Amino acid sequence: MCLQVRIQRRIFMQSFTYHCPTEIIFGRGAENAVAEKLRAFGTSRVLILYGGGSAERSGLLSRIEKNLTSAGLAFLVMGGVRPNPRVSFVREAIREGLAADVNFILAVGGGSVIDSAKAVAHGIANPTTDIWDIWTRKTEITKTMPFGSVLTIPAAGSETSDSAVLTNEDTGRKVGLNTPLNRPVFAFMNPELAFSLPREQIAAGASDIMMHTMERYFTSVKESNLFTDRVAEQLLLTVMESVRRLLVSRKDYDAMSELMWCGSVSHSGFTELGRMKDFSVHKLGHELSARYDATHAMTLTALWGSWARRVYPDDPARFAHFAAAIFGVDAGTDEERARAGIRRMEAFFTEINMPTSLAGLGVGTLTKGTIEEIASAATANDTIRLGNFHPLTRADVIAIYEAANH
Ligand code: NZQ
Ligand code: ZN
Repeated sequence: MCLQVRIQRRIFMQSFTYHCPTEIIFGRGAENAVAEKLRAFGTSRVLILYGGGSAERSGLLSRIEKNLTSAGLAFLVMGGVRPNPRVSFVREAIREGLAADVNFILAVGGGSVIDSAKAVAHGIANPTTDIWDIWTRKTEITKTMPFGSVLTIPAAGSETSDSAVLTNEDTGRKVGLNTPLNRPVFAFMNPELAFSLPREQIAAGASDIMMHTMERYFTSVKESNLFTDRVAEQLLLTVMESVRRLLVSRKDYDAMSELMWCGSVSHSGFTELGRMKDFSVHKLGHELSARYDATHAMTLTALWGSWARRVYPDDPARFAHFAAAIFGVDAGTDEERARAGIRRMEAFFTEINMPTSLAGLGVGTLTKGTIEEIASAATANDTIRLGNFHPLTRADVIAIYEAANH
């Protein structure tokens, strides 16, 4: 009887709707079928977007171009998407896409290129509205056009997510847009395409994948949700094991496959079912990327430990559970295990060369005035709260940045 009661309490789940319509084509050579898939969508003219040159150097771009040409598809190619993608590039691509009357946007790259493709698709489908008005929700978006990706880096999870993030150089803001219209129609995922990644990008990608999972694991939903929790925990363990292997051998196909698939699952919403996402560390990180053009995942690992130490007293048992599940920490009080888990996670980030403080971002230490400015911007002058595990006030944000400011 007692056991039954306990089980009923533990499996309690929040209501949810899950719809992740992105078709995944995964494995060696997957991208060779991209033209065939585009034709199945009734595509005739494609706008291909890519980044700063890695897709050219690897020969991937020319292979895709040949594939499309032999299938009789017309296309326009635009490179130059930068990490922390800019709205000015997106506006230009919208103009080019409208002029060429394209009916599909194909991203060849990572989160920055895919996020740009999402924005370009929304802009072309809503040609009389400025994309930043859509982004800042001044104008509600109700339609878009089809877009998909050939993924080259396991990291942001944009290939399946309902999010996209853009930076506006004029206002100095990096802003995310969440909408079901951000779900791509397909993602071609060939782990071999990521073999050319430098070690720093592999570690950054793995860290972002972990953060997408942890930002859903630590939420205000206190009831345990066994399946979602266990998916999240196994995902974290798989990422940690895979990145360790990849930092030794970057062309370990199995490890890269695990990492790539974890990246998509972690941000598809699957590790959130029955729970609620927090994502306050992401919001704090975006402030640093907007100001210093810092690598997204580095901003997250630089702040996570300081965030965790600030908020764990709200639910030490949850952090203790995490410490046991991920690091096997099972001795001591909840409080002691919670703190040990945070230390072990920071040690892991250090092991894979990710920063655990602001100094590691290469921006030096921030002045008190800068931290206060950032905190005001992040919380709209203390009028909004960030996240839900511990809804962060402006004072919380200042305390977190100060704790990480070394
Ligand atoms: O630009 P190229 O030359 O392609 O080089 C890129 C870039 O320098 C390089 N790269 C990618 N694939 C490669 C490669 N280099 C060698 N070989 C390859 N196969 O990697 C660098 C980083 O690329 P980027 O696309 O910026 O990486 P990532 O996928 O980490 O995306 C980061 C962006 O996504 C946003 C971030 O804020 C950031 O702007 N995010 C998007 C999310 C979403 N849409 O759901 C969620 C995330 O939380 C995140 O906020
Ligand atoms: Zn992220």
